[in-house]
Amino acid sequence: MKINSQVIKQLVGKSLFYPSGDNAQPFRFSIQNQERVVVSYLEEKARHPLNEQCIASWMALGHFIEILSLHAQSVGLDLEIKIKEQKQDSAWVEIFFKEGVQPLNKQRKFIHEHLDLRTTDRRPYLKKSQLSQVDIEELKKLIEVSVELEFLNPVVQDWVVHLLKVEELAWKWSELALSTFKWVTLKPMKEGMPWKNLNVPFWMVPSLFAFKKFPAFYRLSSAFGATKINKQILAHQLSHTLALGFWKIKSPQPQNYIALGRSNLRVWTWLNAHGFGYQPMTLGVLPSYILGQGYILESWPSPLVTLLKETKKLLGRWIENPQQVIWSFRTGGIDHPLPQNQRTLRLFEDEVIEILD
Ligand SMILES: Cc1cc2nc3c(=O)[nH]c(=O)nc-3n(C[C@H](O)[C@H](O)[C@H](O)COP(=O)(O)O)c2cc1C
Repeated sequence: MKINSQVIKQLVGKSLFYPSGDNAQPFRFSIQNQERVVVSYLEEKARHPLNEQCIASWMALGHFIEILSLHAQSVGLDLEIKIKEQKQDSAWVEIFFKEGVQPLNKQRKFIHEHLDLRTTDRRPYLKKSQLSQVDIEELKKLIEVSVELEFLNPVVQDWVVHLLKVEELAWKWSELALSTFKWVTLKPMKEGMPWKNLNVPFWMVPSLFAFKKFPAFYRLSSAFGATKINKQILAHQLSHTLALGFWKIKSPQPQNYIALGRSNLRVWTWLNAHGFGYQPMTLGVLPSYILGQGYILESWPSPLVTLLKETKKLLGRWIENPQQVIWSFRTGGIDHPLPQNQRTLRLFEDEVIEILD
C-alpha cells in the first residue's frame, strides 16, 4: 500500500528512541517508493564482544519495530515485516504498511502512552515495593508466543556469586572494557551513554577517559584493582535488586530475536510506568546462550568461557529450561525517575532516515 513518505518518516522519526546496546544506534532507515522502510545495519557501529552473532542487535531491532508498530497502530496502520535472506546484504528487514488494523487495545494503549518513560536505570533500587505475582501475571500477558519470561524473585545468593565471578573475569579482559568505554560520554550526547547514568563514582570518571585515550593504561590499572571496583558496583546494585528477569526463546532465529525485543520493550515500559527500574544484564547470560548454540567464542579468555559454560547448569536450579535463557535484567522499586541530564539522547532524524521516492 502506498502512503505519503512524510507520514512514514514521521512514524519512523518517533520510533528512533529504541534502546540499543551502548546506545550505538546501529540502524539506518530508507523510505522507498512510498511503501516500505528498508532497515540497514551498520556492523562496525555495533561491534562488541557481547554482540556475537549480532543477537543483541536483532533484539534492538525488535525494540524499534515494536515502537514503530505502536505508533503505526495508533493511526490505523499495521506492519508487515519481511526479513531479508542474504546475510552479506546490510539490509536486515523491509517493513510494509497495511490499512485496517484494530485500534490499540487497553494494554497496548497503556504501553503507547508511556513510551517516553522507558529508560535504563543502573542505580541501586529500593527493595520495599513488591513485584507481586499479580504484576508478573500482567507482564506475561505482554509477551509473544515464541518467547517466555521467568523471574528469580527474590534474587538467590548463589546466582549473585556466579554473576560477580563472571563480572570480575570479564572486565579483566580489556577488549570488553574498551569496547564499552568507547561509548561513554562526558555529557549527554546523541550517541553513547553519559557517564552520569552508569552508576560509577565521580572520582573514577577521569580514569574512564584515560582508558579511552590510552588503552594500555586499562591493562595496568585492571591489574591494580580497577576490575574489583566494577565488581563492587555490581554487588551493590544486586544487593539493591528486587528481582531478576530471564528472557527465554524457543528457537534461535532472527524472527524470534525480534519477537523477544518486541516483548521486552513492552515489559520494560510497563515496569518503568509502574515505578520499577530496569537494567539489562547482558554479560550474565547472553554469551552462555551463544556458547549453547554451538558457537565458539574464539577470542574470549578461556577461564571466562569455562565459567560461562557453568551458567546454564547453575541456573537450572531455579529456572526451568535454562538452555533457552538468552537475556536477563534486574528490576526493583524506584522513588523518582532518572533526572533528565542522566538520560541518553538519539541521533537526529535527518542523520538516520532517507527518503527515496
Ligand atoms: C541488546 C542490549 C543490551 C544491553 N546491555 C546492557 C547491559 O548489559 N548493561 C547495562 O547497563 N545496559 C545495557 N543496555 C542498555 C543500553 O545501554 C541502553 O538501552 C542505551 O544506552 C539507551 O539508553 P536508554 O535505555 O536509557 O534509552 C543494553 C541495551 C540493549 C538494547
